[in-house]
Amino acid sequence: MQRTIGLAVWIAAAVVLASCGSHSSPGSDPQASSTSAAPAVTANGPAATSQYDGGPRAADTPIDESKIAQGQQLFQTKGCSACHTFGQKLTGPDLAGVTHRRTAAWMEHQILHPEIMTKEDPISHELFAKFALQMPNQGLTPEEAAAVVEFFKHKDHEAAESASKGE
Ligand code: HEC
Repeated sequence: MQRTIGLAVWIAAAVVLASCGSHSSPGSDPQASSTSAAPAVTANGPAATSQYDGGPRAADTPIDESKIAQGQQLFQTKGCSACHTFGQKLTGPDLAGVTHRRTAAWMEHQILHPEIMTKEDPISHELFAKFALQMPNQGLTPEEAAAVVEFFKHKDHEAAESASKGE
């Protein structure tokens, strides 16, 4: 008997608490809808997958031929070639096949904000752990980064063409 009363009191208390809770959070709070639109990567840690890695690989998108020469020149003059080449690992990752591994957006973010990417992006962080080196920010503009990506696409396309000719 004691037990039943105790339980009833407990349930009553829970109901009161629950209704209090609903009064303090009205559904029409304008803040509620703006916070739900927050970006996927939060201060709580990296997301399980990269937010920039969705969609087709860069190699599966058309090449803008008009940007290849500029991209190649930037690759030489902006210091990239000191750490990267194609078909060999230097202090940075081997870039042969990079456009089959990544999206254009992911590479552009890596080129424009390497210091943020290694901290917040799971793919970049993994590379950082493997190479034990932070890629420096080389100060490219978004247009320049896009041109470098076109050059990478061209390199991978050339490699695929010569491989098929060799057969
Ligand atoms: C000091 C050496 C260094 C320089 C200079 C450098 N990188 Fe990197 N790069 C790295 C390292 C190391 C990583 C792996 C991520 C990290 O640890 O920062 C990387 C990662 C990358 C990736 C991703 C590779 C993959 O396998 O996904 C791309 C693309 C890239 N760099 C392009 C560039 C371009 C373009 C430039 C010139 C604007 C450049 N890097 C300059 C060292 C360098």
